[in-house]
Amino acid sequence: MKILVIGSGGREHALCWKLAQSPKTSALYAAPGNPGIAQAATCLATADYLAAAESIDADLTVVGPEAPLAAGIVDQFRAKGRPIVGPTQAAARLESSKVFAKEFMLRAGIPTARFAAVNTPEEARAALQEFDFPVVLKADGLAAGKGVIVANTAAEAEQAVTQLMAAGSKLVLEEFLAGEEVSFIVLSDGVNVLALEPTQDHKTVHDGDTGPNTGGMGAYCDGRILDHFQQSEILAQVIHPAIQHMRAEGQPFTGFLYAGLMMTPRGPKVLEFNARLGDPETQVLMHRMQSDFVEALFAAAHGTLDESDLTWRPEPSVCVVLAAAGYPGSVRTGDAVRGLDRITGATVFHAGTRLDNNVLVTSGGRVLGVTARGETLASAIENTYREVAPISFAGMHYRTDIGRKGLKRW
Ligand code: AMP
Ligand code: GLY
Repeated sequence: MKILVIGSGGREHALCWKLAQSPKTSALYAAPGNPGIAQAATCLATADYLAAAESIDADLTVVGPEAPLAAGIVDQFRAKGRPIVGPTQAAARLESSKVFAKEFMLRAGIPTARFAAVNTPEEARAALQEFDFPVVLKADGLAAGKGVIVANTAAEAEQAVTQLMAAGSKLVLEEFLAGEEVSFIVLSDGVNVLALEPTQDHKTVHDGDTGPNTGGMGAYCDGRILDHFQQSEILAQVIHPAIQHMRAEGQPFTGFLYAGLMMTPRGPKVLEFNARLGDPETQVLMHRMQSDFVEALFAAAHGTLDESDLTWRPEPSVCVVLAAAGYPGSVRTGDAVRGLDRITGATVFHAGTRLDNNVLVTSGGRVLGVTARGETLASAIENTYREVAPISFAGMHYRTDIGRKGLKRW
């Protein structure tokens, strides 16, 4: 099978790394890809993804990032009869519009934080009266995980309103939920659901969950993150109602549905839906997945997911993101990356890298994702950080506590 992966980040590198291992893959391409992906796939330097798929006569296309989904890539491919894994533009609104997602959850009876959607700063100020502190403020459009502010005081809330509404976007105000966050991702063909293992992301830039939010500074995948009861609860209260209601509303959801959940004392509540795989969740998922993923992806694109199954290695996996100077603010790029030739016990997924006269340099906020497994979560953490040590670039920073929260379950 000729497979095309859309995207250029660590998530897409992990996907390509996994798909390249399948005997079902006869040729693997990525558009646009990155220097790490180029080790596993042929990179096509184009933003015209349909033309790329047609030029290689792709049997299957898998979309990584949200932007092409929100722009309607799946509708475009389907109109030409090209199999693709991902939601239509309408279904991708579960991610691309916070207001749509919250109103959908209300209609479908999916547990989520109480909210108000507002259109102007004046409406925001009035609505703030209805919430206690801390309160959560979310910009309506896609923001790469950075459009959310938790305000602890009225002054902070006022500043957040000004900052988030500067572009004139709508805003969602939300009740603050306390608990542990879990990323629960499923693959769906619009009817059937295939759950991936639970993962946990680390959203903020600094250790101890402090500092501003990022796209994700690291993740781990460990079957113990959720027990059997919690998994059934999530499927019954969140995933199945979402898939059923999208179908009932005439917008069946196909592709990866990612529920960002807060596990509260009163059960799971949805913080957000994403219409795609997570980054860096995919890095740890692909590292732990034992089965051939091509079969499940093919089934998802052809509506036969009921016949699929996935198996997982028992060992937990951990991914530590190495970020560039300035991230998650404006980042400096062009710094030489050193030490990758000294890595022996981890897989290093490239995200923001490029080749500059044959020298690997930084080219984005999240530069690399160092990923490894271990017999226990503690050893997976140790194995990963051991392989972080030889890598360096000017301004490099990373969290030193990825996965620690999970140790209490061992
Ligand atoms: P979102 O993009 O909606 O997932 O928000 C980004 C991050 O903000 C989440 O991963 C949480 O860490 C935090 N967050 C979002 N909504 C809430 C909420 N209602 N209560 C507490 N934290 C939240
Ligand atoms: N890691 C969070 C996300 O992919 O949205």
